[in-house]
Amino acid sequence: MAKYRIAWLPGDGVGKDVLDAARIVLDALKLDAEYVHGDIGWEFWCREGNPLPERTIEMLKTTDCALFGAITSKPQKEAEEELAPELKGKGLQYRSPIVRLRQLFDLYINLRPAKAYKGNPLNIKEGIDLVIFRENTEDLYFGVEFHPVPEEMRKIPGMERVPADAAVSLKVITPKGAERIIRAAFEYAKKKGRKKVTCVHKANVVRLSDGLFLDTAKRIAEEYPDIEFDHANVDAMCMWLVKNPERYDVLVAPNLYGDIISDLASQLVGGLGFASAANIGDNYAVFEPVHGSAPKYAGQYKVNPIATILAVKLMLEYLREEEKAEKLERAVAEVIEEGKVKTYDMGGENTTLEVAEEIAKKVS
Ligand code: NAI
Ligand code: MG
Repeated sequence: MAKYRIAWLPGDGVGKDVLDAARIVLDALKLDAEYVHGDIGWEFWCREGNPLPERTIEMLKTTDCALFGAITSKPQKEAEEELAPELKGKGLQYRSPIVRLRQLFDLYINLRPAKAYKGNPLNIKEGIDLVIFRENTEDLYFGVEFHPVPEEMRKIPGMERVPADAAVSLKVITPKGAERIIRAAFEYAKKKGRKKVTCVHKANVVRLSDGLFLDTAKRIAEEYPDIEFDHANVDAMCMWLVKNPERYDVLVAPNLYGDIISDLASQLVGGLGFASAANIGDNYAVFEPVHGSAPKYAGQYKVNPIATILAVKLMLEYLREEEKAEKLERAVAEVIEEGKVKTYDMGGENTTLEVAEEIAKKVS
């Protein structure tokens, strides 16, 4: 039996292309793993009315973690139109599989590195090497919304200012939710020898929820005297990240701010072809490139596999295969610096698989 059982979730469009690339480097690294294919994505919505079938969820429960490509999603009206005839008119609602996975497995950490690999023509600046810890389950994504506002709710003191016809979305930050993501950020900094953790918030305006997040960060920071701690408002943070990104190290933020700053940060170091993410909980994790299914490139093996290969690196770290993770990252860095083999986004003409093979050569 193999040491690891890894769920293999290519999904739609270029998700398949980039997972083929991932497999090339995993095989070259000789990871002792068994890869188990899982059905996920648009095809299963259309055919079965569920983009994340129950059999896939059951399979995931038997694995150590998952590598996910990308999925196509469309607004409800279009989704309804593409359903198989026998499924139409049954009130089926499309739900994003990746959001469902985060909820099902309580994957509360969204880890997004942004690193300027030397020689990447797309870097805005050299010296950028930051890691964002985005809380992945709460905040405005908690899912409690009202429209119109229930009369009962408008009786709560303060709520009378909210018109009945308003749409209201609750921003929920819990002590447990704040603590576990902030602790994860500090533990990561400690383990990786990183120097600073910056808490991103808007506590001067959103006083109670962001205030709770910031106070929690300040309290936990005291337990890590060797790690510098600071904090900034999210708007200022966006400005600083554009101006002096090399000054930041580990950032920790509630869900929405984390979503925004991580997309901003990815664009500083090459954009979607380089952006990888890990969704991590206490018992499971899902690794993915940040990009979507890029339908216009589906099956053409044109897109950059580096985002996915860096997601593989995060997966190897999660599996405590540190040596393989480092080896893989070094190989990626070398291939970027040599600049001989590159996909279209970097100004090259190589295929997804040629880039993966070049990286694989350096790890085998
Ligand atoms: P997208 O990320 O799929 O592609 C946008 C554009 O970015 C592409 O046309 C391409 O020019 C570029 N790009 C993407 N990945 C690249 C790579 N690896 N290398 C080089 N260039 C790359 O976003 P889009 O077009 O907005 O969405 C397409 C579909 O993907 C939609 O159905 C959307 O809902 C879904 N989506 C899924 C995500 C996921 O599965 N995690 C995330 C984002 C979008
Ligand atoms: Mg986003």
